[in-house]
Amino acid sequence: MINKGTAVITGAANGIGQAYAVRLAQDGFDIAVADVVDADKTKALVEAAGRKFFAAIIDVTSPEATLSFAKQVQENLGNITALVNNAGIYPWKSFAETDFQTWRNVIGVNLDGTFLMSKAFVPYMIEKKYGRIVNVASTTFFLNAPQMTAYIASKGGVIGFTRALASEVGVDGINVNVIAPGLTNTKSMRDENAEIYEFLPKMQAIPRVIEPEDLVGVVSFLVSKDSAFVTGQTIAADGGQVRN
Ligand SMILES: NC(=O)c1ccc[n+]([C@@H]2O[C@H](COP(=O)([O-])OP(=O)(O)OC[C@H]3O[C@@H](n4cnc5c(N)ncnc54)[C@H](O)[C@@H]3O)[C@@H](O)[C@H]2O)c1
Repeated sequence: MINKGTAVITGAANGIGQAYAVRLAQDGFDIAVADVVDADKTKALVEAAGRKFFAAIIDVTSPEATLSFAKQVQENLGNITALVNNAGIYPWKSFAETDFQTWRNVIGVNLDGTFLMSKAFVPYMIEKKYGRIVNVASTTFFLNAPQMTAYIASKGGVIGFTRALASEVGVDGINVNVIAPGLTNTKSMRDENAEIYEFLPKMQAIPRVIEPEDLVGVVSFLVSKDSAFVTGQTIAADGGQVRN
């Protein structure tokens, strides 16, 4: 299989990020993972697909750690062609319960993390005049969805950041887009709110629970050369619940 370079994925020790890692490895990318927990299971899955793997315990809210991670990825795998900013947190809290620390934490991981990883990796892409960045939002941004003020604000920020960054780096051969998943079956989300899985999927055009594997094709396309003229866009992968 053709080596497509290195895809860097944040938060790929678990959940949807892990599914992205497996699919991009199957597509021919070596995989680098930044997560705050061990990515051993992802490593085994990527290596089973025949690709190289590198991971470090990195908090994406740290300017120093993200810069040093980029250096490590360049040294260990090199040829960085794709970045998927997937790490995210989504505490289920009303506005009244959302204190400033919670707000800062959510904006920190979801939005600052996306900014900092882009700061760290874009220079390597500019050097090669090629890159694909996929940021992760959520269709909650387009929905009437209570209990998520910090989260939805952060994901709106991710969409805004994507549009603005796309305008600056297109000249360097770098495309920046967003995948906005609908409610997806992960342990973290079920731990936050198991009840919504009972009614939300029924509101989708495709009325069943979304699995992480349902999302991977969109990311596979966005990191491929086939997406050459798609940039600054948000693609909803939610079974047809929202139309943006
Ligand atoms: N699950 C859903 O229903 C759903 C829907 C829409 C969007 N999303 C988005 O998809 C992404 C993944 O969601 P998921 O359900 O797979 O979550 P998850 O909790 O299963 O995985 C998130 C990963 O991010 C890591 N992480 C958390 N904070 C980090 C930090 N500071 N630095 C580095 N890594 C960190 C976690 O350790 C974890 O491995 C998130 O951005 C989320 O907002 C999820």
